[in-house]
Amino acid sequence: MGITITTEGMRTPMHTESEGAHDLRHHGDSEVRDDGAGLIDLAVNVRSDTPPAWLRERIAESLTGLAAYPDGRAARAAVAARHGLPADRVLLTAGAAEAFVLLARALKVRRPVVVHPQFTEPEAALRDAGHTVDRVLLRAADGFRLDPAVVPEDADLVVIGNPTNPTSVLHPAATIAELARPGRTLVIDEAFMDAVPGEREALAGRTDVPGLVVLRSLTKTWGLAGLRIGYVLAAPETIAELERAQPLWPVSTPALAAAEACVSDRALAEAAYAAGRIAADRAHLVAGLKEFAPDGLLVAEPAEGPFVLVRLPRAAAVRRHLRTLGFAVRRGDTFPGLDEEWLRLAVRDRATVNGFLQALDRAMTLADR
Ligand SMILES: Cc1ncc(COP(=O)(O)O)c(C=O)c1O
Repeated sequence: MGITITTEGMRTPMHTESEGAHDLRHHGDSEVRDDGAGLIDLAVNVRSDTPPAWLRERIAESLTGLAAYPDGRAARAAVAARHGLPADRVLLTAGAAEAFVLLARALKVRRPVVVHPQFTEPEAALRDAGHTVDRVLLRAADGFRLDPAVVPEDADLVVIGNPTNPTSVLHPAATIAELARPGRTLVIDEAFMDAVPGEREALAGRTDVPGLVVLRSLTKTWGLAGLRIGYVLAAPETIAELERAQPLWPVSTPALAAAEACVSDRALAEAAYAAGRIAADRAHLVAGLKEFAPDGLLVAEPAEGPFVLVRLPRAAAVRRHLRTLGFAVRRGDTFPGLDEEWLRLAVRDRATVNGFLQALDRAMTLADR
């Protein structure tokens, strides 16, 4: 049994039932599978119209080398250079998802704490590895902002997302760094940081924060969810420990080619441009959503990621009606700290957002009946 700690410092026992209340293994992709395959996708936070043609070509070129076992040295060096780090501070992984499993299995941890609401795989991986996980729940009333004081002093592993999925909160790097302690591993999931203009508040590349482990994903901005590529940045000893837990050849040759391509100057410039576009499209979405404020819709603000979290009356019914109107959105109730009143919406281009807002209007009317 673990405990749940709210930002008010209330400690409540967290029995297995409360785990059961949140399906930690539910992710946005299940909203667009099977009967959802034809829906317009605001459920999965992968950038639209990706991967770009130039990246597909780079990956396709790598296929001629498939007979050889993968050699990750060039990709590792390229990722290291992108963050101004030596190669022994980098581990390439099959998506950030693999990194959660490695951390859970390889590190000797007594008291892991996960800051929620956030992506649920870190907690699921820790539980699967036999750990008892305590939760710190950030509250909507506080704008889901982090108060470092609520993290238990004896936590020796702390996991937090920045910007956080699903709240879209971008925590100040300095606030997160306050969580560092001797003997504590501080894991920052920066899977969506490359969608933040200037990557402000990034801790990737920092070597002055003790115990820091930064995770990055290349699957969201680049549309490579099916390829599986991400990486870990940490002290060389931590990287070595995680690497020992990896199977042999964990990252395929096409994924290595993608990693190298995605840290090139061209890719970084494209990601920076996309981040600017996402910010503009998000502003359009948020402005449209605010039109529904008189109907009780609330936007979690400020949103800084490529998705927006909203609370609205009868959200579960609204979500079902949206599906019949052709739109998939992500339910919020599987995230610890949220309930069935919450939905997460991926930021899309203006035309898609306009169509969505019309459908939302209709869905809210239908849900009201
Ligand atoms: C916050 C966050 N971190 C990590 C991941 C995993 O990403 P990857 O595709 O690199 O495994 C996801 C996927 O949805 C995510 O939302």
